[in-house]
Amino acid sequence: MGIDMLKFIVLSDLHLLQEGQTYAGLDPADRLRRAIDQINDRHSDADFCVLAGDLVDLGDRPSYERLEDLLADLTVPVHMTLGNHDNRDTFLQVFGDDLAAPTGFVDKVIDAGGYRILLIDSLLDGEVTGRIEPQQLDWIRDRLAEAADRPVIVVTHHHINRLHNFMDRYLLQNSDALLDVLTTHAQVHHIITGHVHSTTTSIRRGIPCSSLAGSHYNIKLHRDPTKLERREGPAQMAVVLADADQVVIHFDDYIDRHVVLP
Ligand SMILES: [Fe+2]
Repeated sequence: MGIDMLKFIVLSDLHLLQEGQTYAGLDPADRLRRAIDQINDRHSDADFCVLAGDLVDLGDRPSYERLEDLLADLTVPVHMTLGNHDNRDTFLQVFGDDLAAPTGFVDKVIDAGGYRILLIDSLLDGEVTGRIEPQQLDWIRDRLAEAADRPVIVVTHHHINRLHNFMDRYLLQNSDALLDVLTTHAQVHHIITGHVHSTTTSIRRGIPCSSLAGSHYNIKLHRDPTKLERREGPAQMAVVLADADQVVIHFDDYIDRHVVLP
């Protein structure tokens, strides 16, 4: 199959709250509206948009219903997976059980532009860290085998590589097991994650990885890894452009203020 140009957007860490609620003075709904406006304005040519988990902050039904309402304004198709702040049962009640893969998790295959994109649900109930369960690892292995010579991009909530900051305690628990599966395929071109509220690139076992700052508060690198300083921005989406021989990601900020939050 030939490859033209694939363009998709990754949003992450929306942390949506109910009407009237804010977090450290930030209004996650207002930030999501700005993201949607930016996509509709500058990226309406995208094939789709992925929401990479922490869709809501407290896992509650009204927040998921609010998310559904806000997403009605988005002009490109949307696909979702979950993070540690989500509640899988409540999410599926609002958005429909058909969003659960045969694994029982909110995993998904998207075939577009000659690529296969795998969305992997890393939510581990009751934990801030994440995990990919054995049935998911089997499912990923099978989906990669089907992809044959088609290049693959993976999107999951939890970052797999150490950042040497406060968020290292909250990484994916079994990243080695995930990489054991991903390296069975010759062309996993990128792993894109959220969760850490920071813009980073890294490489592990030959696979390039990126994290995006996401829609909520931003975490800057600090020399003291026990210190967590939250900043207002940037709020950021990843714009992924992939063609036959390369993947490039633009980190497109839609809120560009860096005020330290209380
Ligand atoms: Fe998270």
